[in-house]
Amino acid sequence: MTTDNTDQLREELLAAVAGAKDAAALDEVRVTALGKKGRITGLMKDLGAMAPEARKVFGQKLNVLKDEIAAALDRRKQGFDAAALDARLGTESMDVTLPVRPEAKGTLHPISQTIEEVAAIFGVMGFEIADGPDIEDDFHNFTALNFPPGHPAREMHDTLFLDPAEDGQRYLLRTHTSPVQIRTMMNQKPPIRMIIPGRTYRCDYDMTHTPMFHQVELLVIDTETNMSHLRGCLQEFVRTYFGVEDLTTRFRPSYFPFTEPSAEMDIGCSRKGGELKIGNHGDWLEILGCGMVHPNVLKACGLDPDVYQGFAAGMGIERIAMLKYGIPDLRTFFESDVPWLKHYGFAALDIPSVTGGLTR
Ligand code: DAH
Repeated sequence: MTTDNTDQLREELLAAVAGAKDAAALDEVRVTALGKKGRITGLMKDLGAMAPEARKVFGQKLNVLKDEIAAALDRRKQGFDAAALDARLGTESMDVTLPVRPEAKGTLHPISQTIEEVAAIFGVMGFEIADGPDIEDDFHNFTALNFPPGHPAREMHDTLFLDPAEDGQRYLLRTHTSPVQIRTMMNQKPPIRMIIPGRTYRCDYDMTHTPMFHQVELLVIDTETNMSHLRGCLQEFVRTYFGVEDLTTRFRPSYFPFTEPSAEMDIGCSRKGGELKIGNHGDWLEILGCGMVHPNVLKACGLDPDVYQGFAAGMGIERIAMLKYGIPDLRTFFESDVPWLKHYGFAALDIPSVTGGLTR
């Protein structure tokens, strides 16, 4: 084929594009020109048999032609699409005076609502939200968090493992949200102020355990943060969340491989008559684990422990939701029981904010 008949082919194809009556006809033109057995495609295939010099000249021409036809097809298609949309908008209408369908009343799950509340409270304190994958590797879930290989604390987590992968790794369902601490520290420079809500998994099932549950992790890293900041921050959180202005807190020494020192925080409560009430009534209720980030964890993330320090904390979302909203059995969170959702669920527009009020 010579230059002249590329021109001829161009004319023919452009005329076919212009003449297509609808989107289906246009698509046929596309196939005829650019499809696997299309005319331009066929000419491209012939290039291989040509002498190098001629191939170069003709190849360039074909490419220009191909782009030109593709652009023409696109323009015409956009025209058809716009016309189709106009036609649809012309025939469809919505009657906004119709009453709301009574069966269409959804509610927001208490887990979602609780995560929103936690995010609102820490948001005011300048925290951002991070997340990470549910499927983790041993490094992020354990090793980098200072669980040495064979350490008994690994067993405490009742880990759910996946079948061994092709790369020899044994992936697992994360047993806590703490691996996202590692991902966060490896990916961004301090100062860091993060909350990390998410799903977590352990092989456990009874009144107070389900194989999937939710945690929220807290991470603060900079050069100055110390244990008193940890205390002030967590105290402010529980006071706002439970709506008890002077709620007392107590820190008990504890152990987590990834914090040193480690503590568990209790809040004041009463259990008189078998009924749990949050407030300063002399009794204590454990609410979360926390501590100063262990130097080994900082090192594993490439941070110099002589420069950086900070604190971390982790708590169960279901647990704090149960306490605030008086939900007695953890398993009911995941049964999708409509009467339960109706009772404990939240109106979709009931958006928590610290200034506008959290919920109920
Ligand atoms: N990852 C711990 C768990 O699942 C909870 C926890 C405790 C998180 C102390 C922390 C922390 O960040 O400092 O049992």
